[in-house]
Amino acid sequence: MKKIEDYIRTIPNFPEEGVMFRDISTVLSDKDGLRMAVDQMAASLGDEEFDTVVGPESRGFIFGVPIAYNMHKAFVPVRKKGKLPGETVSIEYDLEYGSAELEVHKDAIKPGDRVAIVDDLIATGGTTEAICKLIEKLGGKVVKIVFLIELEGLKGRDKLKDYNLVSIVKYPEN
Ligand code: PRP
Ligand code: MG
Repeated sequence: MKKIEDYIRTIPNFPEEGVMFRDISTVLSDKDGLRMAVDQMAASLGDEEFDTVVGPESRGFIFGVPIAYNMHKAFVPVRKKGKLPGETVSIEYDLEYGSAELEVHKDAIKPGDRVAIVDDLIATGGTTEAICKLIEKLGGKVVKIVFLIELEGLKGRDKLKDYNLVSIVKYPEN
């Protein structure tokens, strides 16, 4: 029986020299890999009470929507700057390679909403830390954070000590 890690492809030196890129496209392009990834991520949320899945553009959408659909929860997209048409709150954050800005619709999260954040991967944790701040600005509560992949060497978890964070596949090195 194959495990999820068997479907993840590692591409050395992408997008720059020395980086081992953990490629989820090979998880998605296999029907068993895709189902296993979504099911295991959803299962890790199984005993949590929450209203909404929040996922960041773009790989967070890929896993966030099927998980929300399967669990009959709402899905709220966090998008890169300039893409959302309504009133937004925004935040600047550091990426593994550079910096960027993320936005969410102001009316997508109500005070008191219980939110689960879903993304494909945690590296430095900068993206997720920014998303937590956006949700909290709107009065939401982050009750759980789920990743398919955790790059433990980059210590992203240390930025998110106050949160309940789980990952399905861990790589000890970068
Ligand atoms: C990647 C990945 C995570 C984030 C993790 O997204 O999908 O969202 O980086 O990095 P961090 O923990 O250091 O913040 P990216 O911004 O490359 O965009 P994409 O999802 O659109 O490919
Ligand atoms: Mg991403």
